[in-house]
Amino acid sequence: MNIRTVATKPIEGQKPGTSGLRKKTRVFMQPGYLENYVQAIFEGVGGVSGETLVIGGDGRFFNDKAIQTIIKMAVANGAKRLIVGRGGLFSTPAASNVIRKTGAFGGVILSASHNPGGEDGDFGIKFNGANGGPAPEGVTGEIFARTTAIMEYRIADVSDISLDAIGTTVLGNTVVDIVDPVEDYVSLMEGLFDFDRISAMFKAGFTMRFDAMHAATGPYAKRILEGILGAPAGTVVNAVPLPDFGGGHPDPNPIYAKELYDLMASPGAPDFGAASDGDGDRNIVLGRGAVVTPSDSLAMLAANAHLAKGYRRGLAGVARSMPTSRAVDRVAGKLGIPAFETPTGWKFFGNLLDDGRITLCGEESAGTGSDHVREKDGLWAVLLWLNIIAVRGESLADIQTKHWAEFGRTFYTRHDYEAVDAAAAEALMDRLRGLLPTLPGQTVTGLTVESADDFAYTDPVDGSVTRKQGIRILFADGERLVFRLSGTGTEGATLRVYIENFEPDPAKHAVDAQVALGPVIQAAEALAEIKARTGRTAPDVVT
Ligand code: G1P
Ligand code: ZN
Repeated sequence: MNIRTVATKPIEGQKPGTSGLRKKTRVFMQPGYLENYVQAIFEGVGGVSGETLVIGGDGRFFNDKAIQTIIKMAVANGAKRLIVGRGGLFSTPAASNVIRKTGAFGGVILSASHNPGGEDGDFGIKFNGANGGPAPEGVTGEIFARTTAIMEYRIADVSDISLDAIGTTVLGNTVVDIVDPVEDYVSLMEGLFDFDRISAMFKAGFTMRFDAMHAATGPYAKRILEGILGAPAGTVVNAVPLPDFGGGHPDPNPIYAKELYDLMASPGAPDFGAASDGDGDRNIVLGRGAVVTPSDSLAMLAANAHLAKGYRRGLAGVARSMPTSRAVDRVAGKLGIPAFETPTGWKFFGNLLDDGRITLCGEESAGTGSDHVREKDGLWAVLLWLNIIAVRGESLADIQTKHWAEFGRTFYTRHDYEAVDAAAAEALMDRLRGLLPTLPGQTVTGLTVESADDFAYTDPVDGSVTRKQGIRILFADGERLVFRLSGTGTEGATLRVYIENFEPDPAKHAVDAQVALGPVIQAAEALAEIKARTGRTAPDVVT
């Protein structure tokens, strides 16, 4: 077998501090571009010679070709064993599980998550370490450093191997195993949840729709919900992963999963609705006539997780990303367990999970997870919800109303301004940063600022400090505003404004969130001058 060393040059691309590389698919398709980044990963992680790697992605356009390249480069870089999902598929949480279960050195996961796929869409690649989670900052820093200095990559001259049949191929010193991507994940879920209770609920006529959005979760949801739990055929829709996600945008928000939201609001709604994103790590859940914010979902899962067998002994602690609403903190307070506030991004939960400080964690951006893997996990959240509903024998809407009555309601919304001029967005943030010291005590459109800062996080496990994670403004009556720029957008800048208010009085809970949050939304505009500075009159996406 011939191994070629190909001259290359440093690439532009990865933003330092992000856990992978996300670009337009056509950028990745340029000769040598993907190769360059893969070599940077292999070197940045300290070499993969003699190691086992898990490889798979969400099935988007270029997934299969990229996997062939990565296999050949892993062979050339001396990997001992490659575990590849059949068809090149692994949902992100399933890949995390396989890394952990096989004791692999790490994994290469191909996805641009909830961003559209196709030749004109987005593509992405990231490295997860031996704990199954996104590489920590030290490692991504090394990878980034390699991208700026790399001069050559190594690739084996072998023909493509078939990804469609389960089996083993030996390439030089590397064993390549094509495995069923679903099997191990099913066993993991069986160990955590009371499958018999959920099946009994379906048998008794419980109805559900799961929208897999033609993305990675389809085969998992079909096997578990319809195959094992006995939900009627057709419960899982858009179940076949497609390279362009069927022309859709695999983001389960009210805009891109509109059909599901409309169904759940209609008279013919099933009992329960759910959807996940491109790579299967995000989820949303809906009840008949009930919308659940991801922040509330996290809080309610924390309050009820002990009803499922995998969490019977209770939770060690919980964590949420800073912009996520503080609803879960109130549950933790009542349970007497610690609640951590971390910067945005799943990697910050990794240390807390590895150290046993938390059991459950989540983000407002439709991510929920637990210590079972080191990624957020869409289908896991849906199954935990089903388990809770099966045990409580109540509708999602009732569970939510009772939760609010017990803990108070945290009204919450996120307003996104997408593809904003990057310089204008930076200037808006810089100006806010400059205002911070002057804000406490000031009244903004009738709301009095209590404190204001640019969020910094000290990791309680390793002591590392992460700064400038978002402008956080707390008001005297429980309102909160957070401003930050997206780290995952692929066009210009995305400004995210997170708007929250706490309402303890149950008589005031049945109000539309946008209405209830009106005064806080006004304060956001007054403080940040969004209209004038971005030229936008309204947010592009409201969740
Ligand atoms: C977004 C979400 C964040 C999530 C990340 C990766 O990042 O807001 O919660 O961890 O995607 O899925 P952002 O674009 O805001 O930087
Ligand atoms: Zn995702």
